[in-house]
Amino acid sequence: MSTANIVDTVIRHRRSVKPAQMNGQKVPDHLVQHFLEMADWAPTHGLTEPWYYRVYSGDRVKSFCQDHADMYRQAIPAEKFAMATYEKLLHNGDKVSHILAAAMKRGDNPKIPELEEIAAVAASIQTILLTATAHGVASFWSTGGITHHQAMKQYLELDDRDIVMGLIYLGYTDNSFTDGKRIKPNSEKWIWE
Ligand SMILES: Cc1cc2nc3c(=O)[nH]c(=O)nc-3n(C[C@H](O)[C@H](O)[C@H](O)COP(=O)(O)O)c2cc1C
Repeated sequence: MSTANIVDTVIRHRRSVKPAQMNGQKVPDHLVQHFLEMADWAPTHGLTEPWYYRVYSGDRVKSFCQDHADMYRQAIPAEKFAMATYEKLLHNGDKVSHILAAAMKRGDNPKIPELEEIAAVAASIQTILLTATAHGVASFWSTGGITHHQAMKQYLELDDRDIVMGLIYLGYTDNSFTDGKRIKPNSEKWIWE
């Protein structure tokens, strides 16, 4: 297969694999470090390199999920609290290998709009997902639970101007990567002038 075909295949076959579909097998730490190294090559306007990851591995996966569930219980008004969500957050890590909390760390270059810093981090996250796919590692980018709540920002020791971009769950799965689906035809998403 040519390099171009390999890249196309990886992009086409990256799929969101939910934590419950993972099998508990551990991804070697050095592989996750490799994903982070690849993520560092995302485009970045003004070389602000605004991506920031906090990696949870080993016992810290379970404790992160416990903390996330507890923060959900505390942050959500009692009338909106759902036990099913609490339980899901609590057990999200049961079959997962690593969790990466991804954030945009706002730099001090005022010329770069926040939107562009967010865009750069999204590109960096996609690089992790694609590199993981290339190495046979399942991934899931989630903004569930209280990802966007102030409590999570504090938990991750971020500043006010920083933004939590999501939680990336990594692991292995016994399921084969499915074809995926898109609802709108691709041709509706561009105009060729
Ligand atoms: C910023 C972002 C946040 C997401 N958060 C969630 C989430 O909280 N729960 C969920 O089920 N999927 C979440 N997803 C994954 C999407 O559901 C998934 O990408 C979509 O269904 C398309 O499937 P695919 O990734 O396999 O192509 C998120 C995706 C993005 C880009």
